[in-house]
Amino acid sequence: YRNLRVALLGGGSVGAQVARLLLEQKDELASRVGAGLELIGIAVRDVDAERTVDLPRELFTTDAESLILGADVVIELIGGIEPARSYILLAINSGADVVTANKALLAAHGPELFEAADKVGAQLNYEAAVAGAIPIVRPLRDSLAGDQVNRILGIVNGTTNFILDRMDTEGSSLEEALAVATELGYAEADPTADIGGYDAAQKAALLASLAFHTTVPLESVYREGITKVTAQQIESARKAGFVIKLLAICERLVHPETGVEGVSARVYPAFVHRSHPLASVHGANNAVFVEAEAAGSLMFYGAGAGGVQTASAVLGDLVSLARRHVVGGPGFAASNHADLPVFEIGSVTTRY
Ligand code: HSE
Repeated sequence: YRNLRVALLGGGSVGAQVARLLLEQKDELASRVGAGLELIGIAVRDVDAERTVDLPRELFTTDAESLILGADVVIELIGGIEPARSYILLAINSGADVVTANKALLAAHGPELFEAADKVGAQLNYEAAVAGAIPIVRPLRDSLAGDQVNRILGIVNGTTNFILDRMDTEGSSLEEALAVATELGYAEADPTADIGGYDAAQKAALLASLAFHTTVPLESVYREGITKVTAQQIESARKAGFVIKLLAICERLVHPETGVEGVSARVYPAFVHRSHPLASVHGANNAVFVEAEAAGSLMFYGAGAGGVQTASAVLGDLVSLARRHVVGGPGFAASNHADLPVFEIGSVTTRY
């Protein structure tokens, strides 16, 4: 099989980690796909900008369009609406498949991009767009596609979870906790997106659209941030046995006035009982609690942000779609290509 040519758009904290892992795990990934994944270039605004990872200089280019036209798969990690939207459309229309982590773009222009992809049979994967490293997009799209999702309760913004958790456990004020979150690099460049609930609302639109197999536009998502949450409210919640979490709530429900069946997506600080699994999601972690008709309750938990963690989801999307290019390759079913010895070790006293 010939190698698949992979173009990367963006060399930020996620992009640099994706490039590093693609180069370092070349052979391992090739054995899982059945063909090599060749990183043909990284399109950036400034070739000489400082990077979080040391990467070969010759990979960098400012000519995104030429790079896209020479690729089988395009990974878009530049974020924002334009030029990301035009680049993705160019990739799809020139026969490439696409992996993106761009929640803002998908929440605003998802239908246009999915339609363009469907029209030409291209794949558009976006596992990293919601809750970073946590596999939740493909579980909702694929694994739960035969079930009916009734409700999703998600902690999908790490910054606000970190802030509320710190206010709860250390008694900090919102300002103090935000300063620490910024220092640790959790908050977006403009923290308004986090504390105002905008980032969570974009993710809620994507989760609701996936869960309910419909388009939930960003404008329909009710949004309230955490800016009005006070230390006193957190204290009274604690006394009553609750913790305050910024939740993305996606629900199938009957309209209270009209009696019509529909869906809703809302983001606001909500009371979560201390006995609920979501109450034990601390720090900048994310978790998505899914209530489905047949499956019952499921919880997906882990790192919702971070360069290398998010890169894991991007590479998973890449391997997944690359496998479909390789007829007769290892595919999904077989996982026995690593050729590792299996040790037969008995039980030992271990505590987890
Ligand atoms: N600022 C976001 C968060 C990053 O805090 O969760 C991931 O979207």
